[in-house]
Amino acid sequence: MQRVYGVAINKGGQGKSTTVTTLARLCALYGARVLVVDLAQPGTASTALRDCWPNVPHGLFSELLEPFTVLQEQDLSHPDDVLAALDALHLPVPLLTKPSWGGGMMALLPYDEGLGQVNRRLRSPYVIDGILRTVDSAFDIILIDFPAADSILQDNALLATDRVLIPFVADASSLEGMDATLRLLRRGRDANARATLGGIILTHCEPRNKRAGDIVNTLMHSGEVEGEPLKERLFPFAIRQSDFFDHAFRYGEPVWERTQDQRVWAGYVLLAEWLLADAGLDGLLANRRHAALLEDDTRVMDTAAVAAGTGTGEARLHDFRLVHAPPLDKGA
Ligand SMILES: Nc1ncnc2c1ncn2[C@@H]1O[C@H](COP(=O)(O)OP(=O)(O)OP(=O)(O)O)[C@@H](O)[C@H]1O
Ligand SMILES: [Mg+2]
Repeated sequence: MQRVYGVAINKGGQGKSTTVTTLARLCALYGARVLVVDLAQPGTASTALRDCWPNVPHGLFSELLEPFTVLQEQDLSHPDDVLAALDALHLPVPLLTKPSWGGGMMALLPYDEGLGQVNRRLRSPYVIDGILRTVDSAFDIILIDFPAADSILQDNALLATDRVLIPFVADASSLEGMDATLRLLRRGRDANARATLGGIILTHCEPRNKRAGDIVNTLMHSGEVEGEPLKERLFPFAIRQSDFFDHAFRYGEPVWERTQDQRVWAGYVLLAEWLLADAGLDGLLANRRHAALLEDDTRVMDTAAVAAGTGTGEARLHDFRLVHAPPLDKGA
């Protein structure tokens, strides 16, 4: 079963942190127990969840990692040491559960500035994996906001990850970041990492943007990943461009608290449903509620239509679901 999802791309501003936090909130709404692991400077994912932060004292994530800097490259962290360190620091931090979360919950291993120091001193790439293995029975899904490229923390994140999700803004300068991320995955496989590509999710996707179509086509035909054409790994839905994501971040609220326009976050509902099914949590898919309950007429960004450059690049949710049936509806 897939449990640990890393959101990664070696290019800034592609929507990593927005993807991590929006998915975390949605999966919790469906009733999943979600842990967010924020390894990305400057801690945008932690900041974006500040409406859920309880005012309780806890230690720092970097303090947790500090004792493990004595480990050497080949050393695994010992579960007993991890548990003791977690206990001493009251980590991960349980985030406040909203009444509408239907049994779901979120917790956070928050970013802090000390992680830069730790990154310079850490030698073992197995520390984060050891920590997550220690706590993973308490969670259904773990989401990692990946740290910067070419760092021991990134190696740690990769070795802890089952599936990588790559957010991608369809512009020419992002293709290089995509390339670097696919290389990272290949290197990981060579080093026996278990991470496979979950998929590429187009973000900041604007209706009627013909240039985006060209880039998506370039990407789709730019090679293979894990023996499959890259185009098989693009999610069929995309995340719409909307200033409300930025508003939500500034106010520290979910995007659905800033606007009632369901088109804004519809792509993330579809991504959350894919993730729940991929994680073997199909049973939770029936719990569509609150922000996850979309009207049939909601327009979703349709990757195939964006690539073809036809019309607005959107599809009606009801029609889209008929073609790309989520596991819940299969056979119905
Ligand atoms: N779909 C979207 N439409 C418009 N703006 C968005 C969208 N998704 C995210 N944003 C905004 O784009 C900016 C970058 O998003 P985000 O911080 O999630 O990216 P990131 O990949 O984590 O960036 P970094 O490399 O800085 O960590 C933020 O201001 C965010 O609010
Ligand atoms: Mg970020």
